[in-house]
Amino acid sequence: MRLTILGGGGFRVPLVYRALLGDRAEGRISHVTLYDQDPARLAAIARVLADQAAGVPDAPEVTTTGDLDEALRGTDFVFSAIRVGGLDGRATDERVALAEGVLGQETVGAGGIAYGLRTVPVAREIARRIARTAPDAWVINFTNPAGLVTEAMQETLGDRVIGICDSPVGLGRRIARALGAARPAEAWIDYVGLNHLGWVRGLHIGGRDRLPALLADDTALESFEEGRLFGAEWLRSLGAVPNEYLHYYYFNRETVRAYQQVKQTRGAFLRDRQRAFYAGADRTDLAAGEALAAWDRTRAEREATYMAENRDAAGAGEREADDLESGGYEQVALALMRAIARDERATLILNVRNRSALGVLDESAVIEVPCLVDANGAHPVSVAPLPYHAVGLVTAVKAVEREVLEAARGGSRATAVKAFALHPLVDSVGVARRLLDGYLAGHPELAYLR
Ligand code: G6P
Ligand code: MN
Repeated sequence: MRLTILGGGGFRVPLVYRALLGDRAEGRISHVTLYDQDPARLAAIARVLADQAAGVPDAPEVTTTGDLDEALRGTDFVFSAIRVGGLDGRATDERVALAEGVLGQETVGAGGIAYGLRTVPVAREIARRIARTAPDAWVINFTNPAGLVTEAMQETLGDRVIGICDSPVGLGRRIARALGAARPAEAWIDYVGLNHLGWVRGLHIGGRDRLPALLADDTALESFEEGRLFGAEWLRSLGAVPNEYLHYYYFNRETVRAYQQVKQTRGAFLRDRQRAFYAGADRTDLAAGEALAAWDRTRAEREATYMAENRDAAGAGEREADDLESGGYEQVALALMRAIARDERATLILNVRNRSALGVLDESAVIEVPCLVDANGAHPVSVAPLPYHAVGLVTAVKAVEREVLEAARGGSRATAVKAFALHPLVDSVGVARRLLDGYLAGHPELAYLR
């Protein structure tokens, strides 16, 4: 089995490779091709992977290339994990929005729209190249904003592209643990929404919904991240546990203020740390294991500071040790590949075409929902309807995503303004216009908007 990683010089690639190294089963990935436009980043990550593979028998072979068609030819799986505009672009997404007094964040609100406007044209082009060069490959999309980008790629690739995110799995695992479940993986998680905009409405263990018991138990709620972020009272009011990204909606003022006050935004912080890592991994005098050790230090620091401002704003304290290890992102990807490649049936929360799972959205809207996965792909399960307040957010944000897809297709500035203006976290059409002006000035990739 062959895997191609687009954005192969990306910082999280060693997480994926680590998961592959741990897979000893028949039919595992035997060859990984890293594709990236930046040869220095590619070389740095290849060094980390070589350190990881040292001493592991039959480690998947790794090749690197800057040629997309070469990377795609003959591959079975494509992971798309690109970042158009790099972390500098992410920092600009944050800065422009925060200067306007609205949320500046990678995937939510104005920042997510700007990132989507940059990424969708590139994702569409990649989808066309895959359709031509590797029409039988399965595509796993990590690229954020993951739901929107998956929907864009599905225009060409249909259900052969599946979007993934680690946040629903992490949330399910934390809830199951808080309930004292012996095997968190065996719980049925009743979760639905859009990527970074979903709710756990039930968690079934042994055929019983245990969420009501959790919601009634202050101590259990205090024991995990989302419980501390949202607070017991609000979770009881909702009767559900939201994805951590809903903190930006339910506590918008507090998070915007916290983000405005930090000396460096998340994107700028990660840009500086990763710049240092990549520069160090480029040295010619590195001893064996040094690139991996430097990567692991940078990774640990990243994990420890994830959503730190939200946790500060909520008084939620530090992250749990289990969550620091890794978000589980690579495990979702590996489980998905295994289920497809070996017909090992699995249930995973994925970003797929709605069909009829959520009655308020049309069939081709990409949603995040539990899916049964087998060699034929991901099949969403039917779910109970969302309450009106959640329907409101989901339909409003899907409408914004559709405007982003349309703006990226037709290149219309007016449509881009509409996308910003319709977002629930942008409070005026005037703000939307200024946001677009700021992003046009900061992002050369948006020159296509006229
Ligand atoms: C979570 C989200 C991802 C996001 C990641 C990293 O895992 O689900 O979509 O890319 O966090 O966030 P960071 O701020 O560390 O880049
Ligand atoms: Mn995510």
